[in-house]
Amino acid sequence: MKKKVEELLLVENIQLNHDNFKLVLQAPTKLPQMFPGQFVNLEIKKATEIFLRRPFSVLDVDYENNTFSLLVKILGRGSRVLTTYRAGDKISVIFPLGSRFTLPEEDDKVLLVGGGSGVAPMLFLAKICDLKPEKVHVIIGARSIEDHIDVASYKAHGNYYFTTEDGSLGEKGFVTHHPVFSEQLSSFDKVYTCGPDLMMKAVAKAAAEKLVFCEASLENMMACGFGVCLCCVEKTVDGNQCVCTDGPVFNINKLTW
Ligand SMILES: Cc1cc2nc3c(=O)[nH]c(=O)nc-3n(C[C@H](O)[C@H](O)[C@H](O)COP(=O)(O)OP(=O)(O)OC[C@H]3O[C@@H](n4cnc5c(N)ncnc54)[C@H](O)[C@@H]3O)c2cc1C
Ligand code: FES
Repeated sequence: MKKKVEELLLVENIQLNHDNFKLVLQAPTKLPQMFPGQFVNLEIKKATEIFLRRPFSVLDVDYENNTFSLLVKILGRGSRVLTTYRAGDKISVIFPLGSRFTLPEEDDKVLLVGGGSGVAPMLFLAKICDLKPEKVHVIIGARSIEDHIDVASYKAHGNYYFTTEDGSLGEKGFVTHHPVFSEQLSSFDKVYTCGPDLMMKAVAKAAAEKLVFCEASLENMMACGFGVCLCCVEKTVDGNQCVCTDGPVFNINKLTW
């Protein structure tokens, strides 16, 4: 798909919890179709000392209003400054970038496992995968209740389960400790995951053991976002591949985890 570089208008910046924000951006030209797993690369001009763009997954697309949204979790200087942008600001964006998740087939039962900054593509996939809600199961993990965002508006598209490391919401422990994962994994046709490396590796290992189809969206550090700088390479069974162009979505059988 052809990528664009455009100055997008920030229409809304909504604070979701202490360190998560939803940014809604409007494009001056008709948006191309964008899919779960794909990402955009933003220039954060207000952080004058930061020269490299920062990648963020697409959270949702509203073709009627020609907008898409991002879920920005504050991690360092760039993401922090990005959350200070206000409606009316313009942001230079390269989009859409990267590969997408394989959409499920009509009769599939799917499990989506997200954590940290990897929640966005899971929510987007659950929303547009076009399955009956009872076939869609989403586990979201975080350290504590205050690190979770409100997913009420997504609940019409699937069943949501939560884990926290301190037990303050849902099951205590990691996403893999949730009974929907630990006891029902074999019942799923497809498993998708995005989030911290350790979380994705644990999900992938369990899915591989049960021979369940599994795709992971990697969040390796990036610079250019379109295959030129080679700073995002991941070792795969086919040799080193760029996460920004060959991924970010990989079937776990391709990875050497
Ligand atoms: C394909 C892709 C999709 C992403 N989607 C989202 C998203 O939807 N929402 C979101 O909030 N974030 C997402 N991220 C992560 C986001 O790009 C980083 O949080 C951001 O680049 C950090 O920039 P910063 O200037 O705030 O932090 P920096 O000051 O650059 O870094 C702060 C700390 O975070 C670490 N870090 C920086 N980037 C990453 C990274 N990609 N993975 C792991 N550690 C990192 C650094 O090593 C450092 O320790 C995505 C990353 C990729 C590659
Ligand atoms: S980020 Fe430059 S090659 Fe992937």
